[in-house]
Amino acid sequence: MIGFNRDEKGTLFCDDVDLNDIAKEYGTPTYVYSASHIAGQYKKLEGALSKEMGDKALPLLCYACKANSHLAVLKLLKNLGAGLEVVSGGELERGLKAGFTPEKIVMTGVGKQAHEIARAIEVGIGSLNIESIEEIRHVGIISQDLQKPVNILFRVNPDVSGGGHEKISTGRKRDKFGISIDRIREAYKQAQHYNTLNIKGLSMHVGSQIFEVGAFEKAFKKIAELVTELRSEGLPVTTLDIGGGFPIAYEEDDGALDLDSYARWVHEIISPLGVDIVMEPGRFFVGNGGILLTKTIMVKKTPEVDFLVVDAAMNDLIRPTLYEAYHEIAPIQQDKEKQATPHHIVGPVCETGDTFAKDRNIQPCAEGELVAIMSAGAYGFVMASNYNTRGLPAQVMVQGEEHSLIKKRQSFEDLIEGEDIPSWV
Ligand code: LLP
Repeated sequence: MIGFNRDEKGTLFCDDVDLNDIAKEYGTPTYVYSASHIAGQYKKLEGALSKEMGDKALPLLCYACKANSHLAVLKLLKNLGAGLEVVSGGELERGLKAGFTPEKIVMTGVGKQAHEIARAIEVGIGSLNIESIEEIRHVGIISQDLQKPVNILFRVNPDVSGGGHEKISTGRKRDKFGISIDRIREAYKQAQHYNTLNIKGLSMHVGSQIFEVGAFEKAFKKIAELVTELRSEGLPVTTLDIGGGFPIAYEEDDGALDLDSYARWVHEIISPLGVDIVMEPGRFFVGNGGILLTKTIMVKKTPEVDFLVVDAAMNDLIRPTLYEAYHEIAPIQQDKEKQATPHHIVGPVCETGDTFAKDRNIQPCAEGELVAIMSAGAYGFVMASNYNTRGLPAQVMVQGEEHSLIKKRQSFEDLIEGEDIPSWV
């Protein structure tokens, strides 16, 4: 089996591993990832693109590792031929450690710091995606000081709205990202002052979890038009980075992005420009490939609400409270005899916001019973914190019948490491 499926007895498995066994061996809460699912997603996207475009003109799929930056996930995708999109010096180091060649790494971010820019240039990064007119000077001066050329793309803000939530929409005029279309020529002019800046072209990213059919198409058309105009003015565009944002299904009726239509838009709108194409998918590769495995502490019954209190909390997975995001929540052992009833599913953190779901129908769970919070492979562990002095959860990777602890649970000692009490306290 690949990914998360139930056997005939109703037990939830990750690939061929019973999640009861994972909990027994590694404890809870624990993130569990299916390597086969992640690899399958990569191949699915690559397959849809190559069906349209053939193998030669295939875009470079730079995995946006902010979604899940564990070294094992990076290595897995690198082995399949992926490139990498990074947004910080830390992510860059992760990419290098996982074995990505620097030319296959692109760096974005509205506030790249001098040390991050310098390191990226020194290692020979594939491109720095520049997010503002102001940043051109930062990158220009550093590359001149280092006397090392660097490829740059200007991130265009296409003023297209798209994305699953206000907080993850990035391509509108008043969002902090990118350079507006009417200032791109100014960007070229500024960058031409630095002989170490190789202007390769443009990049964009409209938003995340984009279901609106046509948002991609609209943005692609806008950027294709801009490329044609720039070229007619003698401004070079040889690379086009069209970002990420492919959605996954969090609920059954979410459906799925029609990859074939997406591939067709890329082929029909972008390919004719004759550019090297880069993409930056994050969530699509890993989102449905992970769960947060948690255990029932108790069911607290009040006259108003039945609270299913589990040992995972908002510090482990913040998406439900931060974005009102829906995650399917299911017992590891399904029992069809038991009637699902409404529960508030909550963690132990001292905040009402520490709620994974409200009035969610779920079969009654006994104390100690295991529960899975589904689709937690993207923006799960990477957004976890130590709030309430809770150690970060463990992470486990599964492939077929194999499973491995890929990050141990954080202990109290790990958590306070580096904390000091001044002698004068
Ligand atoms: N490229 C750029 C420049 C981005 O800003 C992002 C995501 C991606 C690629 C990858 O987008 P994806 O394919 O994963 O949608 N924490 C939020 C999502 C924030 C996304 C930020 N940027 C969440 O949990 O939904």
